[in-house]
Amino acid sequence: MLELKDICYKIDNKDILKDINIVIKSHEFVLITGPNGSGKSTLVKIIMGLIKPTSGKVLLDGVDITDKRVYERARLGITFTFQTPVIFKGLTVRDLLCISRDYYYDDYVGRELLKKVGLCAQEYLDREVNNSLSGGELKRIELACALGKQGKYMLFDEPEAGIDLWSFEDLTNIFKDVKKSKCSGLVVISHQEKLFNIADKIIVLENGSIIEFGNKNKINKYLKNSKCEKCMRDNNE
Ligand SMILES: Nc1ncnc2c1ncn2[C@@H]1O[C@H](COP(=O)(O)OP(=O)(O)O)[C@@H](O)[C@H]1O
Ligand SMILES: [Mg+2]
Repeated sequence: MLELKDICYKIDNKDILKDINIVIKSHEFVLITGPNGSGKSTLVKIIMGLIKPTSGKVLLDGVDITDKRVYERARLGITFTFQTPVIFKGLTVRDLLCISRDYYYDDYVGRELLKKVGLCAQEYLDREVNNSLSGGELKRIELACALGKQGKYMLFDEPEAGIDLWSFEDLTNIFKDVKKSKCSGLVVISHQEKLFNIADKIIVLENGSIIEFGNKNKINKYLKNSKCEKCMRDNNE
């Protein structure tokens, strides 16, 4: 079980996250949504240890990991994919897949992982992970690495960003498969309704606070009212 207890995060005295309490069970799919700037990425970075909270605790199976470094959390089985994937100049896609599989790698495994994310191994295994790859390709490669690692808790920050609509069905199926396999707890930041349909719990963040928590029916009203109130007022005037 992954627990966030009374997490607060401030920058220059501004509240970025306020009193966040969440419990994620080991086989649960938790989806986090909310407007831009509401604190979603900050929240998952705190779970991964990329950001230290101003106060509050992160517990993994009852053990306080708040002071643990990123690599220690990775060894404990937490994996993370960035909203904007990181570029690794000088490393090939094969190198990255190999690093992510800390116990076993061969090209058969690499080919299967790339196939899952819709990339042809022949074309990509030897490609360098640099700016020549498109945003969508980088996103898929990062996803393949995360799937290869198969952590106990897998955190995905807007996995759909840069992925074309044609491939979105495949992305949904990847998460369905992970959920079915019951190997990992999933935390996915997303704005995609198709993912809302398969999540066990949905959390809506706004201005750094949880404003709703529950199933899709419960959060529907926030999706419908997602237009800026000021713009709507201006349009009616
Ligand atoms: N280093 C920083 N300095 C100042 N503000 C920051 C910094 N990092 C994040 N923020 C602010 O914190 C808020 C939450 O950011 P983020 O978690 O990235 O939002 P989301 O992922 O929901 O779009 C935003 O208003 C963002 O501008
Ligand atoms: Mg974000």
